[in-house]
This record gives sequence, structure tokens and C-alpha cells, in this order.
Amino acid sequence: MSTEKRVALVTGGGRGIGRGIAEGLAEDGFHVAVVDRDEATAAEVAKALQDRGLAASHHVVDVTDGAGVRAVVAEIETTAGPVHVLVNNAGFDEHLPFVQTDEEFWGRILDVNFTSALRFVRAVLPGMTERGRGRIVNIGSDAGRVGSSLEAVYSGAKGGIIAFTKTIAREAARAGVTANTVCPGPTRTPALESAMNQQESADAVMKAMVRAVPMRRLGEPADIAAAVRFFASDGAAYVTGQTLSVSGGLTMA
Ligand SMILES: NC(=O)c1ccc[n+]([C@@H]2O[C@H](COP(=O)([O-])OP(=O)(O)OC[C@H]3O[C@@H](n4cnc5c(N)ncnc54)[C@H](O)[C@@H]3O)[C@@H](O)[C@H]2O)c1
Repeated sequence: MSTEKRVALVTGGGRGIGRGIAEGLAEDGFHVAVVDRDEATAAEVAKALQDRGLAASHHVVDVTDGAGVRAVVAEIETTAGPVHVLVNNAGFDEHLPFVQTDEEFWGRILDVNFTSALRFVRAVLPGMTERGRGRIVNIGSDAGRVGSSLEAVYSGAKGGIIAFTKTIAREAARAGVTANTVCPGPTRTPALESAMNQQESADAVMKAMVRAVPMRRLGEPADIAAAVRFFASDGAAYVTGQTLSVSGGLTMA
């Protein structure tokens, strides 16, 4: 039997939830390809994993660059091996009332939060299908299930991710490839912290957010990673097209 490690590609792996996922999958024995547009953070995550004796590499791309995405997947497959697990995690939002947004804004939000996942799936799925195995885990959001004020376009993109994932799950099922969506609720990451800091009464908003969560705490990246690790595991071979909220009970949809 080959001793080569299976490869897990994590977009936005340089910080926040992506970093937690990269750490979890590396602990599960994958070679983790940490993909991010921020080279310094991606390199730091890969090095921290290597320092623990785990397998990792870092790769730089902006997920909105189609040619760049194809090139980075080719680079990973040449240097580390075929991608067995794809985690589309990179995402971003700006909080605004919908009526204050314009087409330029819609394009940017959809590109990072929706079209980027199409790009990566398009690049890895033919190989997964040919090998007869593969795992796609897309990071959605509870915003894509129940909506979220000031996040109309982002919520639409995340709802799109959920529907896209289900369709890929149907198309790829007989090829041995699964596709599932993990929807975080409010999770302690640099993105959440900076969104909070832009609010006038950040403390009060944070307290209200935590009060709304039945478990009365924010999620941690490791909470989200646990769900991704399950979908990536051999034991989840018969689970596909599912949407799993990891939000302390905030959303029971
Ligand atoms: N934090 C939350 O409360 C929360 C809730 C629901 C869903 N999510 C989702 O979880 C995912 C991760 O969020 P986070 O809070 O960890 O965000 P974050 O901003 O803390 O980290 C995102 C990472 O993605 C990278 N990234 C962003 N745009 C990129 C691009 N165009 N190309 C390449 N890399 C890019 C960033 O450099 C960063 O390393 C996102 O998809 C987000 O929508 C987060």
C-alpha cells in the first residue's frame, strides 16, 4: 500500500476558520495545501504544521482569478499529489443595507463567495471522478439558510453555495465523490472581529449575538473544523448533498 498522504486543499487557509480546518485535516493525516492570497499567513500556517511533524505546503492565489486557480491546483497536484479533499472556505463580506449596494459590489461579493467555489470544483472534479473518489466540502453560512440583515448579497451567494453543492453531489455520486456544505454561525475569527469593530456599539452587538445562540457562546474555528473533518473522513462515504449548521443551536433548519 502506498504511504503517500492524501491531499486536502483548503482555500482561505491562512487564518480564521480556514486555519482551524487546515490544522484539523493535518491532524487527521492529510497533506494540507494551505491556499490563500496572503502569502505570509499561508506560509506561517504551513510552517506551524510542519513544525508539529504534520504535512503541509502553502500556495498563493486569489480565488477570483480563474487562470490562477487552475494553475494553483496544477501546482498542488504536481508537487503534493491529487487533491482528495477540497474545502472551499475563502470568503468575505462587507455589511451594508442592500439599497446602498451597487453592481460592482454584487460582483465582488459573488465572485469571492460563490464563483470561487465553482472554479475550484471545476478544476478538481474531473480528476476525482477519474480516480473514483473525492470529497468536496463547501463552507456556506447560516446566512445562506435563514438570511442575515446587512448581508443580502453574501446571503444569496451562500444560499447559492448550498444549492450548487447539492447539485454537484447528485452529479458526482456514482463517481464516488461526495459534496456537502458546512454552515458556520457567528465564529470567532479576524473577519468577525473586524466586522464587530466597525459597529458603533461593538460590545453590545457582540453580547446580543451571543445571547441569541442557545449555547451562549461564539463558535471557534475548531468547532467548524470538526464538521469538515467528518465530511472528509472515510466514515462519511455515504453522506452527500447535506447542509450542516455548526452554530451552537442558533439555526435549526
Ligand atoms: N466568522 C464567521 O462568523 C463566519 C460565519 C459564517 C460563515 N463564515 C464563512 O467562513 C469562511 C471563513 O471565514 P473567516 O471568518 O475565517 O474569515 P477570515 O477573513 O478571518 O479569513 C478568510 C481567509 O480567506 C482569505 N481570502 C479572502 N478572500 C480571498 C481571495 N479572494 N483569495 C484568496 N484568499 C482569500 C483571507 O486572506 C483569509 O486568510 C468564509 O467563507 C465565511 O463566509 C464565517
